[in-house]
Amino acid sequence: MKHLLKLSDLSRAEITEILDLADQLKQEKKAGIPHPHLAGKTLGMIFQKSSTRTRVSFEVGMYQLGGSALFLSSNDLQIGRGEPVQDTARVLSRYLDGIMIRTFAQAEVEALAEYGSIPIINGLTDYAHPCQVLADLMTIREHKGKTDGLKLCFVGDGNNMANSLIAGCIKMGMKVAIACPKDYQPDAALMAWAKENGDFLCTENVLEAAKGADVLYTDVWASMGQESEKKQREAAFQGYQVNDAVMAAANPGAMVMHCLPAHREEEITAKVFEEHADEIFDEAENRLHAQKAVLVKLMK
Ligand code: CP
Ligand code: NVA
Repeated sequence: MKHLLKLSDLSRAEITEILDLADQLKQEKKAGIPHPHLAGKTLGMIFQKSSTRTRVSFEVGMYQLGGSALFLSSNDLQIGRGEPVQDTARVLSRYLDGIMIRTFAQAEVEALAEYGSIPIINGLTDYAHPCQVLADLMTIREHKGKTDGLKLCFVGDGNNMANSLIAGCIKMGMKVAIACPKDYQPDAALMAWAKENGDFLCTENVLEAAKGADVLYTDVWASMGQESEKKQREAAFQGYQVNDAVMAAANPGAMVMHCLPAHREEEITAKVFEEHADEIFDEAENRLHAQKAVLVKLMK
């Protein structure tokens, strides 16, 4: 594994290795055992969109691994004034040991990997959010003891989260059902792959998707970059909400997950959110541990 661009590039064995190392690093951290695997190394973090979790967890993660991290806002970089990503990649490769990038086009992340000579980590694009789903799989394993055979139901927009959940969960032996309006489906090629390689359903019917689910997952109706579509999306997504009726269709003891930030009373009710806050904030914490595992695998 040279980069983390999207989960469909990884094998089940590679995902499992990351999750096992993440569990180990989490235990070591809790026990106060230092693990300076990246002493002297520097991660550059390019952000073209906002972030709370990704920024802080990568920065703290590098620090805990004995290295350092540089926050590079696209407002300040020449990339924001049109310097090509191909040149940026070649320059930054001479200074840094790895780059985490959050941007719009997946093609930009792939170009960084093609032209640079250091590991590139996708910290969210319009297409994918692989770091989030590694943390999600870690959290599912912690709470349910396994991934194989469990059913995950995603309710809402067929966005970057839906795409990465399809890739990651199908690879880890889970069943995946997506409930979304027909104009907001996940990536067509990824859905075709999922149908061929696992148990996959995409439907407009939320209760059908939620039936027998072990994990309910949702995300905002309008992602970063879609602010101008907010009104239209609010209308299109009415009913695509994780609420008591959806929980009643799921298996007893089903988990609820959300990548955050959450919009209460839109994609999830405040009641369901608070009833499952322990799971949701374990998930947020696990961003740190899962990403530290990715950093060690790629940069050590
Ligand atoms: N879930 C997630 O990526 O959060 P941030 O946008 O705060 O980084
Ligand atoms: N789908 C959301 C996820 C945020 C972590 C977005 O792209 O804004």
